[in-house]
Amino acid sequence: MMSLFPKTGTLAADVDRVLAAFGREVTRHHVPRVTQRAEELALQFGVDVHAARTAALLHDLGGIFRRDEMVDLCTALELPVVPEERRVPLLLHAKLSVVLAREWQGVDSPEILQAIRYHTTLHASATALDQVVFLADKLEWDQGGEPPYARALCAALEGGLEAGTRWMLGWMALPEARLLIPHPDLREAWRAYGLTDPSAAAREWSG
Ligand SMILES: [Fe+2]
Ligand SMILES: [Fe+2]
Repeated sequence: MMSLFPKTGTLAADVDRVLAAFGREVTRHHVPRVTQRAEELALQFGVDVHAARTAALLHDLGGIFRRDEMVDLCTALELPVVPEERRVPLLLHAKLSVVLAREWQGVDSPEILQAIRYHTTLHASATALDQVVFLADKLEWDQGGEPPYARALCAALEGGLEAGTRWMLGWMALPEARLLIPHPDLREAWRAYGLTDPSAAAREWSG
């Protein structure tokens, strides 16, 4: 299927063409904003800007597949599917993005593929690159307008990348986050950041 989209040498243009062909207009506008933000955060926190840019451009490409096909597709690709992903198949888009990044664009950097893989939930041993892509995706969310947490998250980031990440993870535990389901990777991230009561971290900032 992806052979229909030959690589031009310009990743941003390649990604845009695929998203347009699949009618993913919201994602098409979201991806350049996430990429810009990821580059800024990478620069600010001394993370490889090219790696951040590559991961951000490719992070949501798996969203070209239909939600109701994602479980079957992952099974066919022999990717593990956990019960939470069966209940909320959209969570699988990140794993599918990894496959497309590798197979279509030939991305072979484990660091970049990991940042794509965990951009939604983060995980227990996040690198600075993982954090940059995770936070860029949250700051430039695809729900329209500015996210309700944007200012508080930026304030938290003044304390560093770790502090920003910890704040965001805490916010995700609040009722207003309306999390569809706590993915096991997110639960492990909460534990790794010592967020036994994850919402307490966010309350520190919202007061
Ligand atoms: Fe995503
Ligand atoms: Fe995204």
